[in-house]
Amino acid sequence: MTRHFLRDDDISPAEQAEILTLAAELKADRWRERPLAGPQTVAVIFDKSSTRTRVSFAVGIADLGGVPLIISTADSQLGGKETASDTARVLERQVAAIVWRTYGQAGLELMAAGTKVPVVNALSDEFHPCQLLADLMTIKQHRGELAGLTVTFLGDGASNMGQSYLLACATAGMNVRIGSPAAYAPSADVVTDAAIIATSTGGSVAVMVDPVAAVSGADVVVTDTWVSMGKESEKAARVAVFGAYQVDSAMMSHAKADALFLHCLPADRGYEVTADVIDGPQSVIWDEAESRLHAQKALLVWLLRQQ
Ligand code: CP
Ligand code: NVA
Repeated sequence: MTRHFLRDDDISPAEQAEILTLAAELKADRWRERPLAGPQTVAVIFDKSSTRTRVSFAVGIADLGGVPLIISTADSQLGGKETASDTARVLERQVAAIVWRTYGQAGLELMAAGTKVPVVNALSDEFHPCQLLADLMTIKQHRGELAGLTVTFLGDGASNMGQSYLLACATAGMNVRIGSPAAYAPSADVVTDAAIIATSTGGSVAVMVDPVAAVSGADVVVTDTWVSMGKESEKAARVAVFGAYQVDSAMMSHAKADALFLHCLPADRGYEVTADVIDGPQSVIWDEAESRLHAQKALLVWLLRQQ
């Protein structure tokens, strides 16, 4: 049966572990897997801007023996002109998989329901699950094990990154804390879903308003832009509310002394994080950006094996 990856909890804890192990193997042996040899094509569609996702999928698909077909929605019939389901029906006869960065999660669900090839969420308003595979791979690279670690995401808890942190870290058996203003808390449904997963993995989930309490004793501190794509008109209001959640060296001092710092990038230095932290010794952002390549290759290999 076709498997899709639209949310972090579309894979079980065992499947997540299997994909992360494969990602580490592919990092060590980059051209080992060639499931797209032929070459087969993978459509990679962007409704929003991207540097890392575009490059890592294009390079990763080429590494797997395939051809990436990068499509900007603005130059295609998708996006108001043709439905996601009709687009899916056209693509599935020609491509091995569909990767899509879009706005609402509902579009991805329509696309997946309409096709027999795997559909991958390359970021939606609600989730960024490929980034979380990369983040978990990076934390594992630096800490060995994921289960039992405490990870704190500070900032917009209702954003794709905040919500994916909840689901993916609960799946990995981690203790995940979101520190965000009350008006930017993650959706109650996502918190409930993460809490249910955590009961089976030994992890835990907490949503807090106090940033210092959220960061206290954490093994990993994470933040992201306060102004996600599509929210640009809210920038002034957001900057006014999120100031107390900035990750600076004083905030990092509340975490463990050797806590890792992650940021999916792009970063607004001076807003959600100060330059001394993001460019400092605890920051693993460049490993994290590289992990996108290995983690997404592992995901594609795994999804194609389930076909
Ligand atoms: N982290 C991330 O998804 O970066 P891009 O927006 O550059 O793809
Ligand atoms: N939360 C950010 C992530 C960018 C990779 C956004 O959606 O713009």
